[in-house]
Amino acid sequence: MPGHNSFADFSVSVKLLFTAFLLTIGIGYLMALGYLYLTHTGLDGGKGLTVQDIAISYYGNRSGTRMEAMLRGPMAVYSKPLDTALLVDWLQSGATQTGYDAIARPILQKDCLACHGGESAKRMNIPDFSTYEGVAGVIKTNPGASIASLVRLSHIHLFGIGILLFAVGFIFSFAAMNKWLKWTLVVLPFASVITDILSWFLTKWDPTYAWIVLISGGVMGAALGIQILVSLYQIWLLPRPGILSETH
Ligand code: HEC
Repeated sequence: MPGHNSFADFSVSVKLLFTAFLLTIGIGYLMALGYLYLTHTGLDGGKGLTVQDIAISYYGNRSGTRMEAMLRGPMAVYSKPLDTALLVDWLQSGATQTGYDAIARPILQKDCLACHGGESAKRMNIPDFSTYEGVAGVIKTNPGASIASLVRLSHIHLFGIGILLFAVGFIFSFAAMNKWLKWTLVVLPFASVITDILSWFLTKWDPTYAWIVLISGGVMGAALGIQILVSLYQIWLLPRPGILSETH
């Protein structure tokens, strides 16, 4: 901008506008982090936000249902191999209500309801398998986020975050610092948002890419944070213009 090469060239009202905007975006970003934490954490059964949680969000857990995992694991002792085979068949063919009534219910009755039925299920606080509704919670596979929801989320993200990064980056472009560092900091948030969103789709395809989602999210947050803090600092606290004269 001709005539505006550093923060010192702006009037107090523009500085106040910049400040209010940067603070709002900063708080908004912290809220977004909180939301991300609350919606993604613990999916893998553990604490904190892990690569595993990200993988489950996008890729899902397609290796089977909770029921099948238990049948092959801790509950295997209660069921004869033929019964297990029939139940797994039912699970893998979609675990319908018809199949429940015809095949699964009689086997569950014989092998499992002693614990997983009526009073004793309540007492042990385990699911009650005597009704289809009771098994519903343990017979679903998790296919992860759908492509349609990823496409919807990514266009909202790209437009919304793109505009937001532009505004913050524009303010930051008046900061005085080494030009290479500044150019990097201007481009980095955009690059990492694009990488982040591309890696959602990669993770949907293969869960090993979940770590790219985490890293690019972190890089974008760090770059945005630096832009906001440096701008706020230079708007109000940098003593005099000309101390750092490079303002590209
Ligand atoms: C002797 C009692 C007993 C019998 C019989 C039994 N279970 Fe369980 N089951 C439990 C207990 C206790 C738990 C909870 C502890 C755990 O998760 O390991 C449980 C947990 C489960 C879970 C996980 C529930 C959840 O909320 O994640 C599944 C699925 C399950 N059992 C399936 C079966 C099937 C299928 C059978 C029959 C083949 C069976 N169980 C027979 C006692 C029993």
